[in-house]
Amino acid sequence: MWKIGSIEIKSKAILAPMAGVTGHPFRVLCKEQGAGVVYTEFVSANGVIRENQKTLEMMKFTDNERPIGVQIFGEDPAILARSAKYIEETVKPDLIDLNFGCPVPKVTKRGGGSAILKDLPLMDEVAKAVVEAVSIPVTAKIRSGWNNGCIVAPVAAAALEDAGIVALTLHPRTTKQLYTGEADWSLIAETRQAVSIPLIGNGDIKSAQDAKRMLDETACDAVMIGRRALGNPWIFKEINEYLETGKVPDAIRLIDRVKLCHRHLHMEALSIGNFRGTNYIKKHISWYLKGFPGASAYRQRLYSIMEFGYMDAEINKIIEELEADQELANFTYREEGPLFPNVPNSRDNY
Ligand SMILES: Cc1cc2nc3c(=O)[nH]c(=O)nc-3n(C[C@H](O)[C@H](O)[C@H](O)COP(=O)(O)O)c2cc1C
Repeated sequence: MWKIGSIEIKSKAILAPMAGVTGHPFRVLCKEQGAGVVYTEFVSANGVIRENQKTLEMMKFTDNERPIGVQIFGEDPAILARSAKYIEETVKPDLIDLNFGCPVPKVTKRGGGSAILKDLPLMDEVAKAVVEAVSIPVTAKIRSGWNNGCIVAPVAAAALEDAGIVALTLHPRTTKQLYTGEADWSLIAETRQAVSIPLIGNGDIKSAQDAKRMLDETACDAVMIGRRALGNPWIFKEINEYLETGKVPDAIRLIDRVKLCHRHLHMEALSIGNFRGTNYIKKHISWYLKGFPGASAYRQRLYSIMEFGYMDAEINKIIEELEADQELANFTYREEGPLFPNVPNSRDNY
């Protein structure tokens, strides 16, 4: 057990905010598998105060997701503070997270996301304004810095702690790196020395063993999992059990994957409607249904379907086919290979 502010967190493995991916249904599935904290994808502070319908929809969650953070981005301290206050009062999450890591040009060219790491006085102003505006804990997520000539994580971290930020996540890649190269875990260790608030390490964790290695090598308090959770919410259970017992649980059977994908479809449909849910689930299908013989043929059967009823029936049919082929149904594999360099079709190509 560890804490963010006064909130007790039951697991050291946290789900990363991922635009276009970590909607309400996926967060619930990760939570069920033991994620310690979940976050909404980043929402625009401007969109919040304008009560933009899409923005408001992105912040919807249910109590079984708690503790949950709503992540906001922007560049204007006053607007960020107003949006945080609005979120505290109307959405009522457990925490507010400040996005100081987004490398997407649409956000950085206005000075938001990781561009703020080039202007630490502004970062400081934003953090102080938001901390002042709300009574719930405020956390922040940063990258290493803008580019190799501007690595600021330890200095930024210390400034954020002084500003009243109660926990910090570091993804140690620069903005310019996007997802290329490797996350520099030594910078997590260095940043750990610079602050006494909880530090959450993030970047390139591919397995439960990697999670433990990051905790051991950097002395961070918790780890955040992004891409390895795609189609793989079981990663949280694996990390939790490995940290507790030194053993990784058995990999999930193919039939259980397909059944979870089916349930996920129903959750999406309930959350965003049948039509959108049916189309949205396709990217998750591409992550759930891979790594086994004939996976691509199964995916192709589902990709062209546009209607919920057909999608529901076709996945049911696949489940029936697997039930008739126990060898395939019991096929297990674990996601351990390389992480996607990027995730197609995510919002704004984050
Ligand atoms: C599709 C996608 C969307 C993302 N969206 C967000 C976001 O909304 N907010 C954020 O702070 N980070 C976002 N990230 C970055 C992740 O939270 C995480 O820092 C990054 O993927 C590195 O972790 P990983 O190596 O475990 O994937 C996104 C990453 C991906 C792949």
